[in-house]
Amino acid sequence: MRIEPGTRAIVTGASRGIGRALCLALASRGARLGLMARGKERIEELIPQLPESPAGPHLALVADVAKRGQVERAIDRFVKRAEGLDLAVANAGVAHYGPFVDTDLERAEEMVLINVLGTIYTIGAALPHMLDRARGHLVILSSGAGIRAFPGAAVYGATKAADRGFAEALRHELSGTGVSVTTAFPGEVETGLHAHERDLLPDWRENEQELPPQEVAEAIIEAVDEDSRAVYIPGVVRLLGLNSVAPRLTDALLRRIRGATAAPRRD
Ligand SMILES: NC(=O)c1ccc[n+]([C@@H]2O[C@H](COP(=O)([O-])OP(=O)(O)OC[C@H]3O[C@@H](n4cnc5c(N)ncnc54)[C@H](OP(=O)(O)O)[C@@H]3O)[C@@H](O)[C@H]2O)c1
Repeated sequence: MRIEPGTRAIVTGASRGIGRALCLALASRGARLGLMARGKERIEELIPQLPESPAGPHLALVADVAKRGQVERAIDRFVKRAEGLDLAVANAGVAHYGPFVDTDLERAEEMVLINVLGTIYTIGAALPHMLDRARGHLVILSSGAGIRAFPGAAVYGATKAADRGFAEALRHELSGTGVSVTTAFPGEVETGLHAHERDLLPDWRENEQELPPQEVAEAIIEAVDEDSRAVYIPGVVRLLGLNSVAPRLTDALLRRIRGATAAPRRD
């Protein structure tokens, strides 16, 4: 689906990082946005910085994606005001890294609720509005960690693999409906996702070059324009798919590139 002036789009996790960059990039293409996040202040600060859309004013949608009722009400409000919905980006997410044995299970629950159920609630609320008009596009943020999970990110990787599986099946299920799905697989991006745990990041994660979120946003927009099944940012992330056919070879490559902590077991 081509993004053009007047495209009506909802972005979750709109207040910071990749979501914020996407909002700026979409608005500069003329899209009218519904910006969803929990923090009202940051969204309200961002809205005046966005180029105006010919389709009407951008809307702040203050909601927690882990609360189904809040997501449904926020999306319904946007659809009523904008008289439709063309694009929905399920981007909101959180990460807590560390060995699983040391993981507080409340943090694990938070990741599952936000990263998995939050995505399902967002898509579940957006999709009927698109099917009604036989037109629309959904974007789901997975991660390189959803293709090959890394030690120290077992639960996070599991949530991103769930997002990948959900998106893959949905793209096929929606065949012929006029609604399509793109899965985004970013590598490491320069955002505040790990700001609360910089000291705790595993060795394989240290000193890695992080991409600017604007680059991720532009790649996602291009993928929507071209109705791509998936977008890997940077392209080398795609190679993690080798893990499903040759896990030992993948481990060996990752040890060379990221160091021994990326794949400590050799059996
Ligand atoms: N950064 C990376 O290296 C990287 C790599 C691969 C994939 N990803 C994925 O990309 C997505 C965005 O990550 P990011 O790096 O941009 O993170 P970020 O900078 O921490 O931003 C996260 C955004 O999600 C929102 N959010 C968090 N929990 C929410 C909730 N319960 N309900 C509604 N909004 C919520 C936050 O706003 P509030 O806190 O105000 O709600 C914020 O706007 C995530 O799904 C992440 O897994 C990131």
